[in-house]
Amino acid sequence: MEIFKTTFDMQAWSKNQKLKNKIICLVPTMGYLHKGHLSLIEKGKQYSDKIVLSIFVNPTQFGENEDLDSYPVDLQNDLAHAEKLNVDAVFLPTRQEMYKKNYQTYVELTNLPDHLCGISRPVHFKGVATIVTKLFNIVTPDIAVFGQKDYQQLQVIKQMVQDLNFNIKIIGAPIIREHDGLAMSSRNTYLTKAQRKSGLCLSIAIGKAKQMIKDKEMSTKTIIKKIEDYIGKVENAKIDYISFSDPVTLDNVKVIKGKILLALAVKIGKTRLIDNAVIDPQDLI
Ligand code: PAJ
Repeated sequence: MEIFKTTFDMQAWSKNQKLKNKIICLVPTMGYLHKGHLSLIEKGKQYSDKIVLSIFVNPTQFGENEDLDSYPVDLQNDLAHAEKLNVDAVFLPTRQEMYKKNYQTYVELTNLPDHLCGISRPVHFKGVATIVTKLFNIVTPDIAVFGQKDYQQLQVIKQMVQDLNFNIKIIGAPIIREHDGLAMSSRNTYLTKAQRKSGLCLSIAIGKAKQMIKDKEMSTKTIIKKIEDYIGKVENAKIDYISFSDPVTLDNVKVIKGKILLALAVKIGKTRLIDNAVIDPQDLI
């Protein structure tokens, strides 16, 4: 497994693979890998010849009062996982390598970030779109895999690829959960034992919503109110948002008529957790 720390070396490797007609797949991450990340690598392998894993805690996607400085790191463990999964190359740039002195160019979308997580994290998607653009230009992949865990991020990337004419196929991969339903996340490591239990309220809320839709409740206001009442009683839990949205535009939906995205963010103590499900009422019959 190759490990590249500079843009120059990463680009040279990719160029060489292209000369050999290899299909390159990029899996971008911020490290502290768990089974969710590993599933993206496995998915990528189905569509490509070479897997590039990037590990970079991107400062521009963190707001001022967010957890950039405490974001968990375990490089040794990450590299061991990557090696075991036969990743071909790991791109591991420094902050200085990605954002040189006098850095001043950003990629920003006009509509998608005005919804869901973008409301309480106003700089987040600008940072994500910028770093992913840079990674695309450095690794020049044919394919890139992103998790549906960060549903809005996946939509942002798909839109950006379309708008900016990147010749890259974006693949979405399903949410990987712990046995009890908690969506895997590097941030779960912040949770105390009691908070870990409270964290289950997100997946339980999704289950409750599905049951209500199955019982023919189609008013999103009514469903949200019931979920709010439930989460309101969970210890340490504070709702950031609960939203029913169009799965493509992310616009708010009042009455469920077809496939719909239920997304929520809840703060458990100081840790902000997110979860979502695309629900098709037809599947619940
Ligand atoms: P990170 O949070 O490390 O996530 C990397 C990728 O793993 C993302 O595509 C995310 O959606 C996916 N992922 C995380 N948890 C998952 C789970 N439980 N099931 C399935 N996939 C999961 O997302 C980022 O990093 C960054 O914003 C990044 C795209 C790397 C840009 O900096």
